[in-house]
Amino acid sequence: MKTIKELTLRERMQLLIGKDFKHTDDLSGKLPSLKMVDGAHGVRKKDYATGEIAPSVAFPSLSMVASTWSPELARLQGETVADECIDEGVDILLAPGVNIKRSPLCGRNFEYFSEDPYLSGEMAKAYIEGVQSHGVGTSLKHFCLNNSEYDRNYQSSEADKRTLYEIYLPAFRRALEAEPYTVMASYNPVGGIHAAENRRLLADILRGELGFRGVVISDWFAVHCGWRSLRATLDLRMPPLQYAREELEYGLRAGYITEAEIDEAAERMLALIERVKGAKKVRKTEKGERHAIAAEIAREGIVLLKNEGGALPLAGGDIVVAGPFEMKPPYLGSGSAYIPTDYSIKSLASELKAALPDSRITEFGWAFPRSSKRVGAGYIYKAAYTADKVVLCVGTGEGVEGEDKDRTDIRLSFEQEELILKTAKQNPHVIVVLYAGSAVDMSAWIDRVEAVLLVGFGGEGIHEAARDILVGRVAPSGKLAESFPLSLADIPQAANAPNGFVDRYEEGLLVGYRYYDTKEKEVLFPFGHGLSYVDFSYEDLKIEKKSETDYIVSFDIVNTGERDAKEVAQLYVRDVFSYVTRPRRELRAFAKVLVRAGERRRVSLTLDASAFAFYSDMLDEWHIEDGMFEIEVGASSRDIRLVGRVEITMPEGEQYTTVYHYQHPTEFF
Ligand code: BGC
Repeated sequence: MKTIKELTLRERMQLLIGKDFKHTDDLSGKLPSLKMVDGAHGVRKKDYATGEIAPSVAFPSLSMVASTWSPELARLQGETVADECIDEGVDILLAPGVNIKRSPLCGRNFEYFSEDPYLSGEMAKAYIEGVQSHGVGTSLKHFCLNNSEYDRNYQSSEADKRTLYEIYLPAFRRALEAEPYTVMASYNPVGGIHAAENRRLLADILRGELGFRGVVISDWFAVHCGWRSLRATLDLRMPPLQYAREELEYGLRAGYITEAEIDEAAERMLALIERVKGAKKVRKTEKGERHAIAAEIAREGIVLLKNEGGALPLAGGDIVVAGPFEMKPPYLGSGSAYIPTDYSIKSLASELKAALPDSRITEFGWAFPRSSKRVGAGYIYKAAYTADKVVLCVGTGEGVEGEDKDRTDIRLSFEQEELILKTAKQNPHVIVVLYAGSAVDMSAWIDRVEAVLLVGFGGEGIHEAARDILVGRVAPSGKLAESFPLSLADIPQAANAPNGFVDRYEEGLLVGYRYYDTKEKEVLFPFGHGLSYVDFSYEDLKIEKKSETDYIVSFDIVNTGERDAKEVAQLYVRDVFSYVTRPRRELRAFAKVLVRAGERRRVSLTLDASAFAFYSDMLDEWHIEDGMFEIEVGASSRDIRLVGRVEITMPEGEQYTTVYHYQHPTEFF
């Protein structure tokens, strides 16, 4: 392997600029060139010369992976996508994205895990471990505060320091424990300075405080001035631009950057090449096995949001299946994370026909509203009138959720709402199958339908997975990784219209359920919500103290139903009396467990100091206030089943003020 001493200054600079859209420079054959491609949901085989993308296996979106609440499945997706990378000679996968789903409007929400930093971080860490255990690198992105697409290259994100540390950095911090090969700096400015040239963010926080030692890559075209980015310790500019090296030479001549800074970045590039080439490639799956894995992950990410009157599972009979996505489901959002598949996804009706041979399944996938005229809808209503049940496939889809543009509304299209409402007039047993990567406002129709099954953007196995849940071969076990608000007017950012200059994170810490629960606002479906075909009871909470800030929390989950099923148990912590603002509850641990019919399973979760600490603006460090903390265990953030408490007393020297006589309950804030 070359050392930088063997490279001329010109070569060292050249190494910091990509060779084309997906390769690092090989310095005319002196070094290996690394191949980097998107994305999280498979390998995107894009030919940048023609713009064509060859098909490959499309895995579920990361939003869907998050709703499995299974780090094992996140790891499995990482491992399997890595196998695809090995087949394609890909060195670095440009994923995963861990930006917080701050608002349901963000066009890229389907590419991100959750509104919660802990869940996002745990899933991303497992995903990265999965990819890298097969000898393929990752790029943890987009660092940071890239939570909307609106004017994404210019509008600046502005969050206060505590919010940055408590909400937006922790997912990166946790994911960094898996030592991703690279981190990608985001497009947007942060506090008025582009992330890709923000020395405070990249040098002080990412490298200094979070201890990242790898290569920082720019998002594509996110570098506006080469030497400014280098000065901020960004190493690799992607893709190259004509005068990129001259820009660095100018910066050096003018004294804005030093040769030592160039060398440091070049050293990191050489170390990256060495790490990539030294990694042992491990391929566990053959091409033909990967589709089944994609479907397996989708199956666990599907969330049963509503199920009344025993609507699901389907028992047979006369069933109408209709809706715009019945034949061609949107299985990912659009943009760089979209993976075209050549797997021929069967219509949902065909899947159901095969699974329920004795039923009469009538399919209307072709009729509505593929045509711009609303022809055909009448046939659906007529068939619905005599059917036992109607399954309607609706959602957002690729054109609506995607990169480079935010949604402006979270309702379904007028035609889809009309389809639901008019069908429900003819038949009281409507089951909505919903394809979306983020929250949907269902206020127009939720009370008119019996069941809603969120199938997300489930990748190419989506219809097999949906079939298994619909007919009850598998009990649903996904839970929401984001809150579903009643409407757009209810979201914490409702008053913040983007203005092209500054996006103020005025809601501060109160993102997602932290907002709805603290303000006691009604939601459509809370964070962590998801039904099963059985009931679980939670019993016998025990909290074992290991140290003042370390606890083992254990409890039983009892499956009181008649079939095996998985449950996602969640642990939230509440600081009962606090002298700083704290969200009403925060997710600090979770577990997904299989509980057999009628069985009882003991679950054990651990808590450490990070479960109790907040980032103190005053002290400029993490701090735990003495006092009482509630440990809430439940099936969602609004379905708490067991509550215990611990009292923490830190060493006297670590506390600043002790007030014995007067305390504010958190609710008063
Ligand atoms: C996206 C990145 C992606 C890159 C390379 C950019 O537009 O923001 O997420 O990795 O393109 O395709």
